[in-house]
Amino acid sequence: MYINNKSNSIEDIINKAKLDLYDLITILSAESDEDLELLRLKAYNTMLDYIGNKVYMRGLIEFSNICTLDCYYCGIRKSNNKNERYILSKEEIIETAKWIASKNYASLVLQSGERQDEQFISFLVDVINTIKEETKTDKLPDGLGITLSVGEQTLENYHRLYNAGAHRYLLRIESSNSKLFAKLHPENQSYISRIEALKNIKKSGMQLGTGVMIGFPGQTVEDLANDIIFFKEIDADMIGMGPYIVHNDTPMNIYLEQNKKDMLKIYNLALKMIAATRIFLKDVNIASTTALQAINYFGREEGLRFGANIIMPQTTPIEYRKEYQLYEGKPCLDDIAEECAICVQNRIQSIGRPIGYNEWGDSRHFLKR
Ligand code: 5AD
Ligand code: FES
Repeated sequence: MYINNKSNSIEDIINKAKLDLYDLITILSAESDEDLELLRLKAYNTMLDYIGNKVYMRGLIEFSNICTLDCYYCGIRKSNNKNERYILSKEEIIETAKWIASKNYASLVLQSGERQDEQFISFLVDVINTIKEETKTDKLPDGLGITLSVGEQTLENYHRLYNAGAHRYLLRIESSNSKLFAKLHPENQSYISRIEALKNIKKSGMQLGTGVMIGFPGQTVEDLANDIIFFKEIDADMIGMGPYIVHNDTPMNIYLEQNKKDMLKIYNLALKMIAATRIFLKDVNIASTTALQAINYFGREEGLRFGANIIMPQTTPIEYRKEYQLYEGKPCLDDIAEECAICVQNRIQSIGRPIGYNEWGDSRHFLKR
């Protein structure tokens, strides 16, 4: 009797019309170079079919490391007293935004630690209004596209930020497994309230970005496969994921040795996650994150080759960068924004991808809705 023992091959799976949890697990478990290349090609072609080959830029401004939360993995958690805490002035942010516009990047990301006080929200609203006014040009009649990444907020405040002119929001679920989420965060930071916040971002009208950390202790490939299904269920427009890298001044520093030992495996897993997410979600924006580059000098290029289409060049004023170390070995610490701009451009061009200068490059998934 003929036994089709190839029915679980990567080649068969990636050509299925619809993947299920078990297919995703098989994909994420792929190890051979041939299988990885098959996956990469399928993801790359899916990207070409659904959104094209352009890479869009989002200048990243880490405008404050003041944080009221205490995530066990994060270098700027409030209990880490080794950071000097800062918040950029409005003028510094506007100046950086104008620089970003002058580079034709078309979008920026404002990221900070989480604060919910009124002073913070009204500062942000004012900053967003001003960026919108001051970055309008012939090439960008609506000014810079603005993405926020400032944590869990109330629905009302999401509305205020949207009305001020922010039209995208990043908030990672970190893990869609509520038990793992609970292991990564103190008790007052609940999974339920994170989900609520994600839903409220959608309700506010902003494009929703989410994502997870890859390779933290206790996480399995089944968890990661479920994360991808979660992205679909929450109807995310944008995805940002990266390898988990231990920060020495956090409670999770006990995993330092293990994390170092597993680093290559985690890196490959991160690339497989990008590919699997592209194959499964198709028309979303996916970022090739800086954490990939912390492990491999060519990490961000690799992310793009595995199906990502967004890059966030570092544009935080240089004197603040070392205070915004979420994990060890974060790249671009000493490169002035101008150097990063040239470097990132070279990196993208080295793999033959065009850059979507002066285009917002919004998620096709969102625009289709
Ligand atoms: N390793 C990798 N990613 C991290 N982040 C925070 N700390 C770490 C770390 N040690 C990620 C989280 C957060 C994003 C802004 O940075 O996923 O959502
Ligand atoms: Fe920043 Fe290369 S990406 S210096």
